[in-house]
Amino acid sequence: MKIAVLPGDGIGPEVTGEAIAVLESLALPGLTLFQGDVGGVAYKRHGHPLPEETLAMARAADAVLFGAVGDPSCDALERHLRPEQAILGLRKHLGLFANLRPARVFAGLEHLSPLRADIATGLDLLIVRELTGDVYFGAKGQRVTDTGEREGWDAMSYAEGEVRRIAHVAFRAAAAAGLPLTSVDKANVLETSQLWRDVVVEVAAEYPGVALDHMYVDNAAMQVVSHPDRFGVVLTGNLFGDILSDLASAAVGSIGLLPSASLGERQTAYGTFGLFEPIHGSAPDIAGQGKANPMATILSAAMMLRHSFGLEAEAARIENAVALALGDGVLGGDLGGSHGTAAIGEAVRERL
Ligand code: NAD
Ligand code: IPM
Ligand code: MN
Repeated sequence: MKIAVLPGDGIGPEVTGEAIAVLESLALPGLTLFQGDVGGVAYKRHGHPLPEETLAMARAADAVLFGAVGDPSCDALERHLRPEQAILGLRKHLGLFANLRPARVFAGLEHLSPLRADIATGLDLLIVRELTGDVYFGAKGQRVTDTGEREGWDAMSYAEGEVRRIAHVAFRAAAAAGLPLTSVDKANVLETSQLWRDVVVEVAAEYPGVALDHMYVDNAAMQVVSHPDRFGVVLTGNLFGDILSDLASAAVGSIGLLPSASLGERQTAYGTFGLFEPIHGSAPDIAGQGKANPMATILSAAMMLRHSFGLEAEAARIENAVALALGDGVLGGDLGGSHGTAAIGEAVRERL
């Protein structure tokens, strides 16, 4: 079972370090870890944020554990050399079109949410975010208009096949869990969203047991924090999913708690090939200070065991250990506590 570990920039190495320690403490037979450079670190060492050898290592692995990329000192580089291109490139090159971002308030941990406890208690949703299309991957540029003004532009589009395959992922997840499905779009304004909605309705015919509704993204943002219990599975595009998942993390308590799985169609000998990463970024404001909460990355490692290695019991063990630690007041600065990265990692391992 080969895992490519790509720690990346900022707090990436700190949080992946704790996730690796958790994996190692499970002493799973046959697990081999490889480490590669990615992001700003890779640009500085190799002249490219996603070096060929890193991509090759990811391809050769059964799963990728990813930290974060992003470095303010690289923000003025040409776009194709910026650290963020590494994660976008990995998603695209590896065909990882399905991004699962579960957000839930653990029972008894409602107090971690900034929402009123009676509202927070209903927050348990799965965001299924399309990950390799949308305005993220369309043509883009800057130009000068006829009147001499500078203009930035980005093309948003979805082909029906792209919508159909992610819709199937969401419907299957909803059907398996017996949950309702909400498709989030902006069909009142965008043609891309109108096609999205039409295709989702077509796919729905194959899942008569799943209750489907459609919601505009602005309303969805409002409902996630006012009536989170309305949501089971949320199906949405790349841009809206990016925004709604940060919002959902804040409603849980912190962005330092939310994991993700990015999956495609490739099957390995052990499960579905995937890339697993926290939803947060490199957090340059706290990098190198030992303050980052590693729980999102630890929970991402749990998702990796579940999806890529079929190790459900071990995944649940990690998730329970994290919930126990939180319940015991092991809180990072992001949750108003004073535990550092290493102390949180250690507390989780003690509870495994
Ligand atoms: P961010 O997620 O890095 O940080 C937002 C805020 O949350 C900051 O105040 C940060 O300190 C805090 N935070 C994030 N993770 C935390 C953790 N584990 N523990 C405690 N606090 C945490 O978002 P940003 O500041 O907008 O972006 C910083 C850089 O990261 C940018 O270069 C951005 O492009 C990049 N980014 C990368 C990814 C990724 O690699 N997948 C995701 C998001 C942002
Ligand atoms: C995320 C990040 C990335 C995204 C950036 C770093 C490209 O915000 O994984 O949520 O927008 O997808
Ligand atoms: Mn994001």
